Amino acid sequence: MTENRKDAHVRLAVAQHVEVPAPRLGRGGGASPAARPGGFDDVRFVHHALAGIDREQVDLRTTVLGRAWTTPLYINAMTGGTAETGRINRSLAIAARETGLAIATGSMSPYLKDESTAGTFSPVRDEYPDGFVMANLNANATPEQARRAVGLIEADALQIHLNPVQEIVMPEGDRSFGHWAGSIEAIVKALDVPVIVKEVGFGLSGRTVALLAELGVAAADVAGSGGTDFARIENGRREHGDYAYLEGWGLSTPAALLDARDQGLPLLASGGVRHPLDVARALALGARAVGASGPFLTTLVTDGLDALVARITTWIDQLTALMTILGARRTGDLTACDIQLGDSLSRAAGSR
Ligand code: FNR
Repeated sequence: MTENRKDAHVRLAVAQHVEVPAPRLGRGGGASPAARPGGFDDVRFVHHALAGIDREQVDLRTTVLGRAWTTPLYINAMTGGTAETGRINRSLAIAARETGLAIATGSMSPYLKDESTAGTFSPVRDEYPDGFVMANLNANATPEQARRAVGLIEADALQIHLNPVQEIVMPEGDRSFGHWAGSIEAIVKALDVPVIVKEVGFGLSGRTVALLAELGVAAADVAGSGGTDFARIENGRREHGDYAYLEGWGLSTPAALLDARDQGLPLLASGGVRHPLDVARALALGARAVGASGPFLTTLVTDGLDALVARITTWIDQLTALMTILGARRTGDLTACDIQLGDSLSRAAGSR
């Protein structure tokens, strides 16, 4: 039998994250794709040895889309639609519940096409009744379909993903994108929960975010490059016509944050976040909260649920430690920290 696309995505994404060893992070610390110029390693906090505060002064609680979050972290959209991905969703939701993170399901298109897949998404809400849970759809969805997806899991928000690069490399992918902006606007008008628009690892530019603000969306998740690479994943599923040259396409997450700030929308950051220092860097560049997908999935699949809970707990603990030495009582205070940008990021920041 041909492998289901959703199962293949999980397999190929995990393969990307395990193949580069990250010895200094240790077991469960998670390997991740190699650092590239213009990525998070080009964002450096200036060290001020007397900036520190007391650990108990640090408070990670924050407000996102008008709701209180206990940490500025979320497990970003991944999966659902098959028995195996349903089990993954259940485990991700338990990990989110145990650590207090927000969580998104993967695209709920499988549910819109076949209601019998409902039970592969609903565990996210069943396991986490009080959690901030986000539904996820593509921009082809109708307002009625968006209502159904949100309703199934009583979602607190809807993520709409924009994935044009993935679609063209995907053998069976979409080839028409011109209707997306209108479709987003219609969904925003029809829903009574906030709509977040995200990329899937190629980044949202400032120009895109400005347009999204006009369409009425509530927040943008820049979901930049540097982590899971969907050009590579879909290329791995192709039999004919190699798109390997598209690997690495897009804006890195720090470049996208710099480009998209001051465009009228609250920003969330994801894509290539490897460890708590990357979380702090994204917050310093103005993100309200920071998400990860591939790294958390990889820990879950390779080391199990307890390891994922332990890893997220470590991230929360170490983010608190980093804020302590940086003198940031609240996550928003990180934006006042002195940072130095590498050459390509300074050019990106300077060009605005
Ligand atoms: C994803 N991602 C994703 N995004 C989305 O909006 N809807 C989806 O259905 C999926 N599916 C999906 C499957 C798998 C296996 C992975 C790893 C990822 C993209 C994800 O939300 C995120 O934007 C990117 O993965 C970049 O973040 P990381 O992985 O570098 O942290």
